[in-house]
Amino acid sequence: MEFSVKSGSPEKQRSACIVVGVFEPRRLSRAGEQLDEISEGYLSTLLRRGDIEGKIGQVLFLHNVPNVLSERVLLVGCGKERELTETQYKQIIAKTITTLNDTGALEAICFLSELHIKGRDTYWAVRQAIEATQDCLYNFDQFKTNKENTRRPLRKLTFNVTSRKELARAELGLQHALAVSSGAKACKDLANMPPNICTPLYLSEQAIALGQRFEKITTEIVDSEQMAELKMDSYLAVAKGSANPAYMSLIKYNGGNADQKPIVLVGKGLTFDSGGISLKPGAGMDEMKYDMGGAASVFGAMKALAKLNLPINVIGILAGAENMPAGNAYRPGDILTTMSGQTVEVLNTDAEGRLVLCDVLTYVERFEPDCVVDIATLTGACIMALGHHISGLMTPHKGLAHELLSASNQSSDKAWQLPMDDEFQKQLESPFADMANIGGRPAGTITAACFLSRFTKSYTWAHLDVAGTAWRSGANKGSTGRPVSLLTQFLINRSENETTAANS
Ligand code: BES
Ligand code: MN
Ligand code: ZN
Repeated sequence: MEFSVKSGSPEKQRSACIVVGVFEPRRLSRAGEQLDEISEGYLSTLLRRGDIEGKIGQVLFLHNVPNVLSERVLLVGCGKERELTETQYKQIIAKTITTLNDTGALEAICFLSELHIKGRDTYWAVRQAIEATQDCLYNFDQFKTNKENTRRPLRKLTFNVTSRKELARAELGLQHALAVSSGAKACKDLANMPPNICTPLYLSEQAIALGQRFEKITTEIVDSEQMAELKMDSYLAVAKGSANPAYMSLIKYNGGNADQKPIVLVGKGLTFDSGGISLKPGAGMDEMKYDMGGAASVFGAMKALAKLNLPINVIGILAGAENMPAGNAYRPGDILTTMSGQTVEVLNTDAEGRLVLCDVLTYVERFEPDCVVDIATLTGACIMALGHHISGLMTPHKGLAHELLSASNQSSDKAWQLPMDDEFQKQLESPFADMANIGGRPAGTITAACFLSRFTKSYTWAHLDVAGTAWRSGANKGSTGRPVSLLTQFLINRSENETTAANS
């Protein structure tokens, strides 16, 4: 799909379709009024007759509207003008896209990007509209024999903004949206891939391919033998029961000066989490192919970063492994020596993510990182705490928390900070080792973060638990592409700080 932005008046547009909003109760938007005027009250007559109320979800397709140059006019319900929320805005866009795709229009000019949402500007409106459009058009059908092809799909979409002054912001919104959407798509494609194909090796192949495609990216793979030499025995213990060996993929993006310390992103990459010997129940176990959602989001963010060509250094790590039960699998009761030297008593082999991540968090010390953010589908408890709309953020560092929460707000990729006070550490005590790998039922998301914090003492670190947000279950099952938008925004903000620092 091709996107563009412009600033024009609706009556002058010559397009296959022109999209304008109707507010509740039966009130035309600004662009709608302009079309009404030129058509000598054609639209207001329809509204008075009650053909569309303006409720969210309503649409009305019109053909041959008098004096209008465009072939079709699509009226879209936008609810009460003053109460329009961000979620509703995205819903309205999605409804518009599915409606347009079902008709013959190959291109359209959309005036919904002019809608006002409290606290948001044109940049946001354009960026979210494009991200929502791409999200809505996404499907994963590579394993379907008969693909459901739209007969005449929408090919070109233009978003209109209120004045020429707004065009620069709109262009920036467009540019960022395209990078984020392409990253989110890469994330979804990787995460939706079945676990018999998407193994740790497959993750490493994708990482290598990304390095071949972008000049500023070089990829390095650390295989199981090298991990053994590095004494990453906790990571390796998780992978032991699987026929698919572990691979850790390092995607290094070099956009800054050589002396600029890198930002490190670490993604949990369990290509399948059966629970191991502490086997999970059968229902819904297929969804544990998404336990590499953190790694997929790092992959997507690295792609977005390369597309944006940002002047920073970033290392994205996909911590690939598969957790399976087997005769040689690790077991409850085992005591592991982590790369850091600290010992861990395994009380549950299903708390495997932290055992993989802890060694990677020790490994990354060698990069002397500016900061490290790990992204992981780490705990079911996070779904209990925050549900499916909000990711959990935990960090002992106020500044980094603030940066990530700002990025979350700017990108509308929601996150919420949970505490990680020292008191919680006590839950991880073990009678036999330095710590246990689980902290009991209370605050399971926080004790998991506390576990990781023991391996991150030498740098600034934050943890994102995306167990509830990385994928959707049910009829609409699939990867959400989150939190690629948040991560990319964080990197955009970092690069802007770099540029200001360099110029001052
Ligand atoms: N990958 C799971 C967490 C998970 C579960 C994410 C369900 C999304 C949906 C993780 O490896 C896990 O199994 N965690 C355990 C930890 C427990 C054993 C302390 C959990 O959450 O039950
Ligand atoms: Mn698990
Ligand atoms: Zn897991």
